[in-house]
Amino acid sequence: MNPVKEKIMDRRIVSAYGTKFGRMYCGKAEEVLEKWPPSHYKGRVQLIFTSPPFPLNRKKKYGNLVGEQYVEWIASFASILKEFLTEDGSIVVEIGNAWVKGKPVMSTLPIKALLAFQEKAELHLCQEFICFNPAKLPTPAQWVNVERIRVKDAFTRVWWMSANEKPKANNKRVLTQYSESMKDLLKKGTYNSGKRPSEHKIGAKSFLTDHGGAIPPNVLTPAMEEMIPELIEVLPIANTSSTDPFLTYCRENNITPHPARMPAKLVEFFVDFLTDPGDMVLDPFAGSNTTGYVAESKKRKWIGIEVKPDYIDASKVRFDLSFRQSVF
Ligand SMILES: C[S@@+](CC[C@H](N)C(=O)[O-])C[C@H]1O[C@@H](n2cnc3c(N)ncnc32)[C@H](O)[C@@H]1O
Repeated sequence: MNPVKEKIMDRRIVSAYGTKFGRMYCGKAEEVLEKWPPSHYKGRVQLIFTSPPFPLNRKKKYGNLVGEQYVEWIASFASILKEFLTEDGSIVVEIGNAWVKGKPVMSTLPIKALLAFQEKAELHLCQEFICFNPAKLPTPAQWVNVERIRVKDAFTRVWWMSANEKPKANNKRVLTQYSESMKDLLKKGTYNSGKRPSEHKIGAKSFLTDHGGAIPPNVLTPAMEEMIPELIEVLPIANTSSTDPFLTYCRENNITPHPARMPAKLVEFFVDFLTDPGDMVLDPFAGSNTTGYVAESKKRKWIGIEVKPDYIDASKVRFDLSFRQSVF
């Protein structure tokens, strides 16, 4: 092959699979993003949504760096990924909690990693979210179940960042159901206005317009039916084995599911909130491709990158027609 052609071929990458709206690539994100066609999307991605490998105190199946090395590694992605954003695009990164090996002490690495990522590319922190998952197993078992000196670790931290102070966003697209008391109030048309103990002044008509739903809080939580009544306004983000069709499918077909899948509802929230149909969504650490699957279902274009071929293979079933029919 002549050297020019060889160079061009070297810069190209063939996708592992494609769908109507997206493509999944196999390889290290830092390398794949430099290849064509992915590199063609520099400046064109509206949302980068990802859950990078966590800094664990023991190695999970997909292998993780530990300590400061992990922080440096995550931060090294910030500038690479920023190049792919549209002017008003967003980067949303989910990182779970980690514990110091052998001690009942939390690791500060996830927080350091997020901060290093945000600082490295001079991104704005638009908002921090907490993704609460009450279905999580009680871990770390030694401290929670055996010695009973810690409580269950049940949330992950989600940072919404952007290059621009006002990235595209619309909270009207992620409204939640009004609480019963709010519904009553809207029906009655009156309430006690005036000063509250918190010093806030509540106007006589402040809460009497029906906006079609409540503005969600930045704590994202499980399905309504599983929620305690006081949390009725918060978001449905369940990912229990009973409600996850991907997991059920994997079990029934003897496929080992990805060990750290994100709840699809978490991705849905940010795709609805921060993108429009036709926009491009990128997940550089795609795993079982929850991001691509949600983007596809919402008619967003998508690119997924995953280093482990086995995870890519398993993720294909998300797009298998018969599987999809049973999901939607
Ligand atoms: C926390 S998991 C993502 C899970 C995914 N959000 C899902 O819902 O299935 C992180 C993934 O990043 C992958 N990974 C690790 N290093 C990578 C790299 N350099 N490039 C691409 N993928 C990588 C791991 O194999 C793992 O599947």
